Amino acid sequence: MKELLLIKLKNHDELDRDDMRFLLETGDQDLRNALMESAYRMKKKHVGVSVYFRGIIEFSNQCSRDCSYCGIRRSNEDIKRFRIPMDEIVEAAVWAHESDYASILLQSGERRDSDSINFVETALKNIWQATNGALRVTLSLGDQTEETYRRWHEAGAARYLLRIETSNADLFSKLHPDDPDHAQRKQSLVFLRNTGYQVGTGVMIGLPGQTTDDLIDDICFFRKMDIDMIGMGPYLVHSDTPLAAEVFDYHPEHQLELGLRMIALTRLFLKDVNIAATTALQALAHDGREQGIMAGANVIMPNLTDVRYREGYQLYDGKPCMDENATQCRGCLTDRVNSTGENIAFGEWGDAPHYVKRTQAVGV
Ligand code: 5AD
Ligand code: FES
Repeated sequence: MKELLLIKLKNHDELDRDDMRFLLETGDQDLRNALMESAYRMKKKHVGVSVYFRGIIEFSNQCSRDCSYCGIRRSNEDIKRFRIPMDEIVEAAVWAHESDYASILLQSGERRDSDSINFVETALKNIWQATNGALRVTLSLGDQTEETYRRWHEAGAARYLLRIETSNADLFSKLHPDDPDHAQRKQSLVFLRNTGYQVGTGVMIGLPGQTTDDLIDDICFFRKMDIDMIGMGPYLVHSDTPLAAEVFDYHPEHQLELGLRMIALTRLFLKDVNIAATTALQALAHDGREQGIMAGANVIMPNLTDVRYREGYQLYDGKPCMDENATQCRGCLTDRVNSTGENIAFGEWGDAPHYVKRTQAVGV
């Protein structure tokens, strides 16, 4: 098995489920390193050696949902809720533009009331106006109606990130007792695509109750849904959440390793998509995001949120970079990326080649 797998990895031959299971579980360092090397070569071939920055603005921790793993869930009464005022959001976007980021991500808890929907729509229009439409804006604002996706797209959002969290419908229901409908989440990804967005999804890796086969299904799900962007990372415990009580044998090194192997396998399996080295990786090792880059990721999201709001936006314990402002984050991540031998594609949108190909193919 080992020899055969080494050859497959070297030749970039298609991996089957048994191969993937083995590669996710093996303790063999040669195989592990061959997986990373193979994924990195695949990345170079399809998306190059540039890393794209997406400046992230976590503009509100108000949330109407009660996900069992998440620190800003509605039932958590220990945090102060905030929404960053409009002018500060636009200011952060302008800073990103002037810092040559070319692309930003607006993220918040999930809210579907008309005040929130209008607020986002206005923010998008204001950002468009203040930057002459120069920024590619991604939204990560949870599950919304088709109508809302359309309005936000028309107001200037080009990409949407909606994690499926897990492709296992039963596990999804357990994690989301307040809204357990997995099929609906899947349908939202279809709506997003039909609306014209570049569509991103992702999962949490190493959840209690999640099996290796679930993880393989996750990667197959990404391909089946023809996804353009992947944002996934290890599950991290937040002590004030119900899921924390279900975590018995939690090994940070194992979570990190599983996260990296999932990135590598996803790169090998999907080839030309954008994959983020998420902050969750850095919560587990100071160089976790660099390791993500070396495993096949090509996107990093420097935090633009003003430090005074960061305390209130902790989805999990041990979030890194709580005190570094946007300028410090830019410098720190630039050094980190350069240390991997890659360069940052400042000033470039960095649309996923996968998206470019699929839209060209149908003449959109
Ligand atoms: N550990 C890791 N990721 C988390 N997220 C939320 N809570 C956690 C946690 N405890 C992720 C979810 C969500 C994204 C915004 O953050 O996958 O979609
Ligand atoms: Fe806010 Fe899950 S707790 S979307």
